[in-house]
Parts: sequence; structure tokens; C-alpha cells
Amino acid sequence: MNQRAFADGQPLTRARDWIANARHLFVLTGAGISAESGVPTFRDAQTGLWARYDPMQLATPEAFARDPGLVWRWYSHRRERVAQVEPNAAHFALAALQKHRRMTLVTQNVDGLHARAGSAGVIELHGNLFADRWQHGCGRCASQVVMPVAEGEPPQCKLCGARLRPAVVWFGESLPEADLRVAQKAAADADVCLVVGTSGMVYPAAALPSIAAEHGARVIIVNPERSDLDHDADIVLYRKAAECLPLLLANPFEAAAS
Ligand code: APR
Repeated sequence: MNQRAFADGQPLTRARDWIANARHLFVLTGAGISAESGVPTFRDAQTGLWARYDPMQLATPEAFARDPGLVWRWYSHRRERVAQVEPNAAHFALAALQKHRRMTLVTQNVDGLHARAGSAGVIELHGNLFADRWQHGCGRCASQVVMPVAEGEPPQCKLCGARLRPAVVWFGESLPEADLRVAQKAAADADVCLVVGTSGMVYPAAALPSIAAEHGARVIIVNPERSDLDHDADIVLYRKAAECLPLLLANPFEAAAS
């Protein structure tokens, strides 16, 4: 870790000042930011009849080709679980900050909680659990007239037979190219990079903080545990997101005035 952050002032205060004075703040979030909302992880959601399935049977293009109904029902189950949780103080603090700070918010989460907290223009690198898209194929026929399907099966195009599928990135699939490019460009342009609740093990998202650092940004990490990204950080705050972000993102000038 770069120690220059500790030369002067407490880490939290220093990090707060950097964010308050940032020209362009780049934020990368992962599962940890939703932990205090109680969002079940993929594994946590595998209760009851889902416990016996391997993730490869539920979240790959091959699994969908083999048994579209099974995969569709698994995602309905996950949607129901995630629909029951609420954004937490960390999501709200980021949404509030966006009102008076230039910010690019990139998440690996598919839970949609940033948008529900009021953040606009969130780049969801791994997709969104609550959105669907046509399986490749129907884009070409452009009919997209849904034919009746059995309960629990994905809607299907009457003309070409393509099915609707969850708009998430499955194991073995590439990230949406345009979104990734926008995220990489924003990381390179930012002067402060805030990384919240990610283990930093899943690429290419995990490379974004080092792109920011290589282009001169100060990197701040919030995570109660060590992560693979700590070596890129100027400051690591070993704290939970929902307790730390409201303190970190409070504008010190506004706080003093109120
Ligand atoms: N506040 C902040 N961070 C937390 C909290 C919390 N309250 N609780 C846990 N964390 C941290 C953990 O210490 C861990 O480093 O959140 C991180 C979660 O790591 P992962 O589960 O690996 O999640 P993430 O980094 O988002 O994974 C990336 O991998 O499973 C795939 O597609 C999935 O988007 C996901 C991707």
C-alpha cells in the first residue's frame, strides 16, 4: 500500500477531503455494498430445492440451452428474494453525493439497489437481475411476438423461437463491451477512485482501480476484510460500507455549515 496517505491526518478525514475535492470521482462497488441490505449471494439463494444444483446448471448459456425453464425459474426465485430487500445507507450516500459531484458509478452487482436508492446512470457491468433480453436470434427477426408458454417457462418469440433470458452476465460470457469501455475510460479520467465491497478477484472489473491508479488517481478502498486490490490503494478503510460511506461521503463544508 502506498503510505503517502498517512503522512498527514487520519485516513478517514483525508479520504473524505479527497472525495469532497475530486474533479471526477470513479466508484466501483461489489457484493459487499449490499451485504448490510441482506442481499443473498448466489449460494445463499440456493436453499430448498435449489440446493442440489451446481451454479453451472443455473447460470451459464449452456444451462439455458439445456433447460431454459429451470434457469428461468431459478432467476424468478432470485428476483423474489432480492425484491424483498432495501438499499442501505451506503447506496443512499452515493446517490446523494452524485447530486453535487461528478461521479461515474460502476457496479458488479445485479441487484439494482443503486438505482433504487436514486443513483442515475449506473453502469451495471454484470447486468441486472430484474431485466430480460432476447436470446440472440430474435434481434434479427424483430418480430418479438410472444407465443403462449407453459407456466415457469421463458417467453418465446413466435417467429424465430428465441427465448427471453435474464439480462445478467453468466459464467463464461463476456461483459457488455460498450459499458466496459465507458467504465475503463472513466477510470482513466478520474482523479479519485473509491472501491467498495469487492474482493477484486473477478476480472475485468477488478482491473478498473489499477487503471485509475496508473492514470494518477488516488484510490480509496472500503472493505472490512483485506482484498486483492489493497496493493493499489492509497487508503484502505477496514470498515463496513453502510457505516463508513455516510461518514466518508458527507461533505465536510456542508456538515460544518449545518
Ligand atoms: N461492507 C463492505 N464490504 C463488505 C461487507 C460490508 N458490509 N461485507 C463483505 N464485504 C466484502 C468482503 O470482504 C469481500 O471482499 O465484500 C467483498 C465481496 O466479495 P465477492 O463476494 O467476491 O463479491 P464481488 O467482488 O462483488 O464479486 C464479483 O463475482 O460472483 C461473481 O458476478 C459475481 O459480481 C460478482 C463478481
